[in-house]
Amino acid sequence: MQTKQTIAIIGANGNMGSAIAKAIAKGPYRLLLKGNDQSALEALVQGIKSRNASADVEAAVCTTEASWEADIIILAIPFEAEKAIAAQIKEVANQKIVISIANPLNGNYNGLVTPPDTSAAEELQKLLPGSKVIKAFNTTFAADFSTPVIDGKQVDAFIAGNEEEALQTVSEIVATAGFHPIVAGDLTVSRTLENMQLLLIQLGMKYNYNWLAGWKILHN
Ligand SMILES: NC(=O)c1ccc[n+]([C@@H]2O[C@H](COP(=O)([O-])OP(=O)(O)OC[C@H]3O[C@@H](n4cnc5c(N)ncnc54)[C@H](OP(=O)(O)O)[C@@H]3O)[C@@H](O)[C@H]2O)c1
Repeated sequence: MQTKQTIAIIGANGNMGSAIAKAIAKGPYRLLLKGNDQSALEALVQGIKSRNASADVEAAVCTTEASWEADIIILAIPFEAEKAIAAQIKEVANQKIVISIANPLNGNYNGLVTPPDTSAAEELQKLLPGSKVIKAFNTTFAADFSTPVIDGKQVDAFIAGNEEEALQTVSEIVATAGFHPIVAGDLTVSRTLENMQLLLIQLGMKYNYNWLAGWKILHN
């Protein structure tokens, strides 16, 4: 039997962290959830277990320790917080998959704070040179996780990265969450993926999608 992979979610109390935790708890994973508010974290763990008694999920108290125990680390935190968290996990995240979900939005939602020749994911890779940074879950809204099929269509979720095996592993996590994974390209494709979500946010505000919206490629 294959050993369960352990996934640490840093920022698990947030909209995305909690949505990802709930969605992938049904998969063959052990989840270590780290957040700043320990009682909110315990409530999240209990909520997941009450819906799924066999879920292997627990609250963690330390970002570095949880990342040390994990095979895969999901940073469900704002782009601005990544530098500090990267410093805490750099050594223990060596050789591991680190999932970048961040969209480096500016305060007005009319642009990104990253220059056009880079992306949040590439900046994270520079901070964690020994890790396999993979872009995923940035083109899906938190609300989509409870409804990954919208208007009868399964929402596509794009993934970018430089390591084939890591892309495959993350594709399986994305599929477990209920989305249709599409490997879009190498890590530089994150520039496009982050701009795609900026556009979707802008369209959502203009046409009142109510944060329940996603991308779908129609093809034959
Ligand atoms: N919301 C979406 O639909 C969506 C979609 C795609 C991607 N994203 C990306 O997902 C990430 C999280 O977004 P969100 O909407 O889930 O935000 P959120 O609800 O504000 O959650 C962010 C989490 O990060 C934690 N955090 C903030 N600063 C931190 C720091 N310095 N160190 C450690 N933890 C810190 C917060 O913990 P405390 O509050 O407990 O301090 C909170 O739990 C962002 O990068 C965003 O661009 C969001």
